[in-house]
Amino acid sequence: MLRRTVEPHGTSGGPLTPWLVVICAWSAIASIWLAWVAGRIATAISGHPSAGPDFGAAFVGGLLRQDWSTLWPATSPWLVLVVYLAQVAASLTLPQVVAKAKWLRPSLAATPASLIRPGEAGIALGAHTPGRMVGRSRKGKVLYASLEDVVIAVMAPRAGKTTALTAPGILDAPGAVLATSNKPDVWTTTAAAREPKGTVWVFDPQAITHAQRTWWWNPLTLTGTWEEAFRLADHFVSQIRHDTRGEDFCALAAQDLLTCFILAAANSGGTLADVQAWLADVTAREPARILAQHGFHGAARSVAGRQAGAPETRDGVYETARTAASCLSDPQIMVWVTPSKPDVPALDVTRFPESTDTLYLLSKDGAGSAAPLVAGLTDQVLRAAVRAAEMRGGRLDPPLLCVLDEAANICKISDLPQLYSHFGSRGILPITILQSYPQGARVWGEQGMAALWSAATIKVIGAGIDDAKLAEDLSRLVGEHDVPVGSRTRDGSGIASWQTSIQRRRILEPAQIRAIERGHALVFATGIPAAMMRLLPWYTGPHAAQLEHAAAVATEAITRRAQADYNPPGGTR
Ligand SMILES: Nc1ncnc2c1ncn2[C@@H]1O[C@H](COP(=O)(O)OP(=O)(O)OP(=O)(O)O)[C@@H](O)[C@H]1O
Ligand SMILES: [Mg+2]
Repeated sequence: MLRRTVEPHGTSGGPLTPWLVVICAWSAIASIWLAWVAGRIATAISGHPSAGPDFGAAFVGGLLRQDWSTLWPATSPWLVLVVYLAQVAASLTLPQVVAKAKWLRPSLAATPASLIRPGEAGIALGAHTPGRMVGRSRKGKVLYASLEDVVIAVMAPRAGKTTALTAPGILDAPGAVLATSNKPDVWTTTAAAREPKGTVWVFDPQAITHAQRTWWWNPLTLTGTWEEAFRLADHFVSQIRHDTRGEDFCALAAQDLLTCFILAAANSGGTLADVQAWLADVTAREPARILAQHGFHGAARSVAGRQAGAPETRDGVYETARTAASCLSDPQIMVWVTPSKPDVPALDVTRFPESTDTLYLLSKDGAGSAAPLVAGLTDQVLRAAVRAAEMRGGRLDPPLLCVLDEAANICKISDLPQLYSHFGSRGILPITILQSYPQGARVWGEQGMAALWSAATIKVIGAGIDDAKLAEDLSRLVGEHDVPVGSRTRDGSGIASWQTSIQRRRILEPAQIRAIERGHALVFATGIPAAMMRLLPWYTGPHAAQLEHAAAVATEAITRRAQADYNPPGGTR
């Protein structure tokens, strides 16, 4: 008997009917499943969670009998219908994000949908390429993140993070933008285009753009309470917390000590220079005195107790705190966070989220870098944004875009996974960009990274995923489909006949996910099937020539400033 398997991409000679049967069957199952999910959501909304039958024969029977009181006891079937329609409409295409923007942004409510610019309503992620997963790529619609999405992107180096996600998002954003980076490219490409919209602030303590310092940030303005001081201290300690998550006694004690010093400096009108000086002197009495004067008696006792403790323990804690805050010893970094020139204005973090300004936060990676300050400033802007949203009826309008590129290296906000789920409802659109999933797990721990991953309503997976487990998980998430497999058989008298059987196969095998081409990405969004898309880098967009020119001018300026910095007139550096 001859038996030849036909590849999944076609029935080559086999009948089409099985496809139609399968598509119809799965459409019906998907619709019933959506109805069941809608019922669960509606019953939860109406305060009767988990009422009614589970997904299965009893549920289908109830639907056929239209027995609403059994399916959703004490819940109106109309509510279920509304939730059902909302789910079906949930999509990433422009009409949907514009419709959403009209009720998320009161300022757009009266504007006809046709006049709303895409960038006002969402962030373009890429162009859908329907059929690409099964080898038949067609041109599809542009997919957008809406204004209540929270996004995570995992892409390897040179996969298009900056050119296709960060820069286009910044260029289109209608409101304030905060962008972190460890390279100058995002600033060179987008700063000139953002200038007409508002002030462009560049925080560049490590001379990545060699930008002239025209402002400073006082990290202590908002750290007058224990909670805020603790958060700032945490950004420093994150630098030395590697794979362990908070179990290290010295790291915990160092964080407590730093918190006390930051609190003392903030309450006495001091600066981070005072914190650095107190860290250097284990006998300094001033912080405990200031803390007691301002009513922080517990913190005062804590500092005094540490100083009077066993010298080995005390020195270990101080040394850990000094290592965590080592960037405070760098005068180049300190001039950005201390009032060295009286005429240089300070950034008002509380005003920023409601402005249309752009804030670039640049830092190198690694020990001694300005990364804790980048994390601290990002954190303060995010908290100010939440407060501003609360004072404006719950949401920021226009939204604040926060692109946290290289987040695992330069913006290690410990509780980012917990904060993430709240941003969507506040008019804050965060895009956290990582080079790999394990890179995130090293910073937030396996559980924290899993929490961040599941809180993100949109996940973008680009080229270069080299993690077998992630590829396998994603392959399972993409799902399976039924593939008609044709075979030709010959009976005893040698007469050949075609038979088609259906096999369930992964839509994308893990190996195919690991082989996603540069310039493409998979997108997973809550409530809709995974989609493959072509990225839309700025250099292929309508303003490419203008942006290319701006980037060339900015790069030339960096080169000139770098040469001047390294070869100062009249001597060596
Ligand atoms: N102006 C341009 N014209 C054409 N190609 C470009 C341009 N700028 C960048 N590229 C290419 O686009 C690709 C993606 O670059 P991009 O800077 O977006 O990568 P990335 O993921 O941000 O990398 P990294 O991790 O190094 O920051 C690279 O191959 C790069 O060479
Ligand atoms: Mg980049």
